[in-house]
Amino acid sequence: MNREQVDIQEELAYYRALLQHASDGLIVVDEQRRIVFMNQAAISLIEARPDDVLPETCGELLRCHNDTESNLSLEAVCFGRCVLQRGQSLDYVEMNIQTHTGKIVPVAVSYSYIPVGKKQYFLMSLRNLTEKRHLEQERRKKDELFFTLQERERLARDLHDGVVQDIAYSHMQLKLIQSLLDQGRVSEARSKLEEVTAVIHDSFLELRRALYDLTFHAGKQLKHFIHKLVVEFQHRAGIPVEVSDFDFPDICDPYTGDQVAKIVQESLSNVRKHSGASKVWMTLGSRPAGPFRRQYTVIVEDDGVGIPEEVLSQVADGFPDADTVTRHFGLKAMHQRAQSLGAILRIARREPRGTRIELHWFQDTQEEPIRQQTG
Ligand SMILES: Nc1ncnc2c1ncn2[C@@H]1O[C@H](COP(=O)(O)OP(=O)(O)OP(=O)(O)O)[C@@H](O)[C@H]1O
Ligand SMILES: [Mg+2]
Repeated sequence: MNREQVDIQEELAYYRALLQHASDGLIVVDEQRRIVFMNQAAISLIEARPDDVLPETCGELLRCHNDTESNLSLEAVCFGRCVLQRGQSLDYVEMNIQTHTGKIVPVAVSYSYIPVGKKQYFLMSLRNLTEKRHLEQERRKKDELFFTLQERERLARDLHDGVVQDIAYSHMQLKLIQSLLDQGRVSEARSKLEEVTAVIHDSFLELRRALYDLTFHAGKQLKHFIHKLVVEFQHRAGIPVEVSDFDFPDICDPYTGDQVAKIVQESLSNVRKHSGASKVWMTLGSRPAGPFRRQYTVIVEDDGVGIPEEVLSQVADGFPDADTVTRHFGLKAMHQRAQSLGAILRIARREPRGTRIELHWFQDTQEEPIRQQTG
């Protein structure tokens, strides 16, 4: 071997070691989606033993799938195939794979497009997400508990400020009515009685609403739930709502559904309580946000008096003393729920008048257009 050949050999060994010892699972696949290289981390990820005969193609090897697709290796939905056809890398896709022992493992996969002369390959870089998903679930459980306690505190405050005061007032008025009746002042007693009846009726509605708020779950059926909220709001507040729907999905992940529903509910409740609006616009939508990723949007706008400047500056400062000083929970809770989803929440004035609440969140998805192109 001459010097040049030795150099090439050393270089090859160097690159092979680099791939072999990388901590991410690396799999190189050719145009026919045959596996041409797998590093040690990829072999351990799929729990293959050294003497196992590995399937030839990446789809067969990984049996990749996600929540909506039971088989991502089918011709039309194979990510690797999309990468080869487009000649473009794909940054980050989350999916589940099945190991040789039958275990389902969540993974993040990046696809790098690798043209070598006239040939094309792609490199899949796989990272195990089991731990991350576990932590995420733990965090969501904690957040859920926090939101439950926060709602309990708010309910206690609302009941104290509303229903409890109303019952105390009604109790005093009933005593007064009794004494009026004792004195034979029947018409005065009757008019007081009408007043008390109205107060008790309002309290009853308030209590019923509070019980409903405590127990509702939009879950997967977010869109259906939002439509129900809108009907109830129009009935209760007497303010018409114009709903526009641009491709908003019927079904979503239940945790997201619950959080978004609570944010919409609080927005509408604020419109009813504070805005004096004569009209509300609600926009639901979704649109592609890069390969295999979608952005979802809910916007609630009203033409009322608008949020006062001092509240808007609290919003901008991240609510430093919202519950201790002002006893306003609603906007802060909306902000916390949005944070828990990794969503973007914008609370602002609407031009020419009113308030605009905008919520955007993102989710990985299997894009329709790509399926059409490749199918
Ligand atoms: N759509 C709106 N139009 C006008 N003012 C609003 C609107 N939404 C909120 N506000 C103002 O922002 C303040 C804070 O709202 P927030 O929801 O945090 O508290 P709250 O509604 O007063 O009480 P809580 O929600 O805790 O029952 C309100 O008191 C009100 O002044
Ligand atoms: Mg509120």
